[in-house]
Amino acid sequence: MLAILLFLPLGLAAAETGIDAWLRYAPIPDAESYHGSIPSIVVALNDSQISPVYTAGQELQQGINGIFGKDCTVQYEGGDGPSVTVGTVAGYAETGGSIDELPELVDDGFYMSTVGGEALILGQNERGALYGAFHYLELLAQGNVTELAFASNPDAPIRWVNQWDNLRDGGTHGSIERGYGGHSIFFWDGVVRDDLTRASQYARLLASIGINAVIVNNVNANETILNETNLDGVARIADAFRPYGVQLGLSLYFASPEALGGLDTFDPLNDTVVEWWNDKTNQIYEKIPDFAGYLVKANSEGQPGPITYNRTLADGANLFARALKPHGGIIMFRAFVYDHESLNQTLNWKADRANAAVEFFDGLDDQFEDNVVVQIKYGPIDFQVREPVSPLFTHLVKTPVTVELQITQEYLGQQCHLVYLPPMWKELLDFDLRVDSQPSPLSSILNGQRFNRKLGGYAGVVNVGLNETWLGSHLSMSNLYAYGKMAWDPTSSPEALLNTWTKLTFSHDQEVIDTIADMSMASWPAYENYTGNLGIQTLTDILNAHYGPNPASQDGNPWGQWTRADATTIGMDRTVWNGTGFSGQYPSEIAAQYESPTTTPDNLLLWFHHVPYTYRLRSGQTVIQHFYDAHYAGSATAQTFPTQWSRLQGKIDAERFEAQRFRLEYQAGHALVWRDSINNFYHNKSGIADQQGRVGNHAYRVEAEDMALDGYVPYAVSPVEAASGGYCIVTSDNSTRGAASVALERWESGRYDVAVNYYDLAIGNSTWELWIGEEMVGEWKGDLEYRIGKAPVFYIDGQTATRITFRGVEVTKGDVLKIVGVPDGQEPAPVDYISVLPEGVVD
Ligand code: GCU
Repeated sequence: MLAILLFLPLGLAAAETGIDAWLRYAPIPDAESYHGSIPSIVVALNDSQISPVYTAGQELQQGINGIFGKDCTVQYEGGDGPSVTVGTVAGYAETGGSIDELPELVDDGFYMSTVGGEALILGQNERGALYGAFHYLELLAQGNVTELAFASNPDAPIRWVNQWDNLRDGGTHGSIERGYGGHSIFFWDGVVRDDLTRASQYARLLASIGINAVIVNNVNANETILNETNLDGVARIADAFRPYGVQLGLSLYFASPEALGGLDTFDPLNDTVVEWWNDKTNQIYEKIPDFAGYLVKANSEGQPGPITYNRTLADGANLFARALKPHGGIIMFRAFVYDHESLNQTLNWKADRANAAVEFFDGLDDQFEDNVVVQIKYGPIDFQVREPVSPLFTHLVKTPVTVELQITQEYLGQQCHLVYLPPMWKELLDFDLRVDSQPSPLSSILNGQRFNRKLGGYAGVVNVGLNETWLGSHLSMSNLYAYGKMAWDPTSSPEALLNTWTKLTFSHDQEVIDTIADMSMASWPAYENYTGNLGIQTLTDILNAHYGPNPASQDGNPWGQWTRADATTIGMDRTVWNGTGFSGQYPSEIAAQYESPTTTPDNLLLWFHHVPYTYRLRSGQTVIQHFYDAHYAGSATAQTFPTQWSRLQGKIDAERFEAQRFRLEYQAGHALVWRDSINNFYHNKSGIADQQGRVGNHAYRVEAEDMALDGYVPYAVSPVEAASGGYCIVTSDNSTRGAASVALERWESGRYDVAVNYYDLAIGNSTWELWIGEEMVGEWKGDLEYRIGKAPVFYIDGQTATRITFRGVEVTKGDVLKIVGVPDGQEPAPVDYISVLPEGVVD
């Protein structure tokens, strides 16, 4: 080891996997100069190993050691010399400490003082003490040793994480539904894993950002989670969480009394059903005394629920609420309720999935038990790149609510696209819903202040997996970090959070911080630009993996994510006067704003209105030209990401640098796939030309189907816009090697960036070679299914379309460019086109 270290060039960081995320406690610049001002004794006022205060002591020791290279001891009662004392307010008072002057703390809150060369960290409860310790370490890890004394209280009591983990692999989603970071850290083969190391590590990460509970299994729940073996297993997960103050909760399958209990009904008003749930709940609390509660998805997307028996959603929620109440647990009842089978757009212009939540919950506000919390997705449809805030937040006045956010990027690039989400969350949380014409920002509804409620808060669908990066990509972890921080304090600035995260995760180097900030802050607007604009939704393939462009998939099916695009018009008319009436679900001021296209913000125009492609936006541009321009602009921004990232080479460890470089290159290529697919689609539909003449005109491209083919044959791609020119080439069978060639007569001799657009399917690992004349420029494999974790796709379409670029390639006029494709498995080495681009040109 020593020998290896000696040979590391100065400044080159050691390889890192990402497993410690933002809790690396890496040595900071000039660490030794701080030694005098950092205490070397930690006093933890609880020596029980399951206590978060004990954990805080261990963490402080590890942190001070790592950050400053300073030895530090932990003791469990006061000692001599300057120390960091951590405990609860009550525990501190017991040791004789004075608490008279302390500011007011609420549950989970903490007080911290670093005045006079000592640190005092006091939690209102045990986990509050741990939160304080993490906060202190976060300051130290940034080299911040200023004297401070302050209290920090969470904005809302519910700061939960939902994991959509299945108990076993299989079905359409593998082990985590919409998870892109590998297998479940909790379950394997139908049961809880023996080794729960990752569960502890996860709890540590979550505690450091103030998360206080995790629902460990999928909302599309399986009844076997409640069998004896699994409850014992789940209790072991709770044991792993406990030292971090993270509570455990479970998603329930509504029909469990029948499916698991052998009853002949799951009617929520049936006595035997009530008794079954009471017994089950009591059994859970025997095993897990600090069990957090339940999460229930009912009567949605094929899930059973109370409506199956003509009972109300309140009847369903109260069933669990009553079982939990004696134990102090809560039930999170999801508002994501809609009946996809009854949606029929062709017949009914008024049908609208967006209306469903309010329609299902109206009239129930005063019928829920007081430990029911309704969990509402931020928008009325489903985690789209832009949605208005769900109006249901204004309909429930007595009933506490949480907002459901998605950290896993289901519709937002599945961690293969950099999309920093907090700027979107901030817009949503700050949005003033004007209930009764009074200030009503969403955050004030969540924290209970607006309607005077005690409960409420945040639920984030995270879906980390066994992959050591947790989410599948290093940069995606900024979303998780910021989620916890914003749930604690929704006034936090997304950019400030990001900068702190970068410092903790990567480096104190200003160029690293600024580069990651520039890229991340540009990423959501860019993604919106190259996917779906003006509130039309993400336009991803909603019938398959929710990845890649497929605008046609939105319409003509009962899933209700409609765009109603035809040859001349586009958008959902959600007005009261002429449309689905959705805009009328908002309080009057907001309803009036959304009712008219002239007062609806451009970025939601097509969410609320059905207009001609030639409709002029407030910007003065037409809808269709805005589409074209935005797709060019957004994808151009994505091209800058790999270039910006490349400046960080040598400034962060090679392992994480390279892993992210690969993803950003991939994103840059896929952004162009998006741009062309969407632009071609609406160009084909509307017949309206791009004023700038870009759409459909690609001066530096050669279609694969126009090249001289040997062993390759043309193949018509569906959807047609997912291939340049509508066709790609595939090998004539899955054992024949194909070659496609073209003489580069149109190009003068010089240096070019050569891009190849191909399709990487999850059913084989073809090999491609790119030759210019006698030189092999590059060789690559279609193995993205192992490399980037997005949902596997088996089709030649916008989800599998991929671009690889070789930069600075010497070309002599007339050289023959040749692609050789070797199929593998069922993947026929498909190629769409090649582009030979003068340096600096992107197309
Ligand atoms: C989305 C997602 C599903 C999920 C559902 C839900 O539709 O695609 O996988 O089950 O949301 O939130 O219940």
